[in-house]
Amino acid sequence: SGTIAYRASILDSLGDPAELGLENSYRYFEDGMMVVQDGRILALGEAAEIMPGLSSGTTIRHYEDALITPGFIDTHIHYPQTGMIASYGEQLLDWLENYTFPAEQKFADPAHAEQVSEIFINELLRNGTTTALVFGTVHPQSVDAFFSTAEKHNLRMIAGKVMMDRNAPKALTDTPESGYRDSKALIERWHGKGRLHYAVTPRFAPTSSPEQLATAGQLLREHEGLYMHTHLSENRNEIEWVKELFPEQSGYLDVYDHHNLLGKRSVFAHGVHLCDEECQRLAETDSAIAFCPTSNLFLGSGLFNLPQAEQHKIKVGLGTDVGAGTSFSMLQTLNEAYKVMQLQGSKLHPFKSFYLATLGGARALELDQQVGTLEPGSEADFLVLDYNATPLMSYRMQQAKSLDERLFVLMTLGDDRAVKETFAMGRKIYSRD
Ligand code: GUN
Ligand code: FE
Repeated sequence: SGTIAYRASILDSLGDPAELGLENSYRYFEDGMMVVQDGRILALGEAAEIMPGLSSGTTIRHYEDALITPGFIDTHIHYPQTGMIASYGEQLLDWLENYTFPAEQKFADPAHAEQVSEIFINELLRNGTTTALVFGTVHPQSVDAFFSTAEKHNLRMIAGKVMMDRNAPKALTDTPESGYRDSKALIERWHGKGRLHYAVTPRFAPTSSPEQLATAGQLLREHEGLYMHTHLSENRNEIEWVKELFPEQSGYLDVYDHHNLLGKRSVFAHGVHLCDEECQRLAETDSAIAFCPTSNLFLGSGLFNLPQAEQHKIKVGLGTDVGAGTSFSMLQTLNEAYKVMQLQGSKLHPFKSFYLATLGGARALELDQQVGTLEPGSEADFLVLDYNATPLMSYRMQQAKSLDERLFVLMTLGDDRAVKETFAMGRKIYSRD
């Protein structure tokens, strides 16, 4: 396949501003060029430096008023909840019972699962998300449908079948035995196939018996490189319920810890109400948190304490948590993340936001050698963002000269309209216009 050089402003994250300082946390080429060959990034730099070395057959694509970034990484989302996003009036436990569980029951039908997988992945790409950690339903066919669709677009995706053997409608429960067996079959079918990875996915502590949580730990021990994906300390009533269900454990996180579910590729959504001991335990086990601001606001769950996670050096990614989250857009998710920080008297600098949506997410998923970066050698999953997405943005950008200001405007006013093109493995898989 041919070599293509993309010329535009280019921004890449180099690390967490909390560790490196703001100025060292990114690289930016105002008139930049990124060369892509065979699905990988071959070179990155100022156009003036790259151009003289281009081989003669290279195609150049020039974008005006645009910013190239790595593809966004959504570290927590539920594809079966696409059709019930924006459901009115409840907090977590009633929301699950009244809206979520009825919607998930439809995924017993493979045709429904296929249809929603298409809609969901299309929505991710429209919003510039190229990698996500995704919940299915309890039905293995939900995960077959999702992975088949992801594979068609050659996307790096992580997903798993929900394990849930109690406190849910009968039609949505498995058993420790069937959950183990169905998960294992999916692992054998999909894990490591192309760019796909499997996540062992107990829904959350209240819907799994101790026996089932033990089988989740067993699966993680029996296979290399699996993820563990669940929810943690999202809502006060949920936390009280976990204490009642697991009186012998010292807290919510300890329920998972007791069953050996913490570790390098373990991702816990929310973690809104964590004590310092729990933070310390997450950090020392190299577990990650998915920060889901639109969901936490929408369900009235609480305000995630990002500075606390930073102090403990916990890996944090950003999650939309659709359908409790209210947008597929990582830009809109950052807009709300900023406000969550404001309500707690802290700031979220646009470079930190950019890190969270790209390299920070990749690190939370242990994929930073592959995605979330424009480092030469990495996989060419990237976006073209449009500074003229709307008349208002265009006008606002005329007053915004510095990169951090432009970035902040993109994150505050931007949504799917700001995503001009999305690429995976060097191939354009979405174009807005
Ligand atoms: N906790 C358990 N299940 C869910 C879910 O589907 N969404 C959210 N936001 N929290 C959960
Ligand atoms: Fe969730």
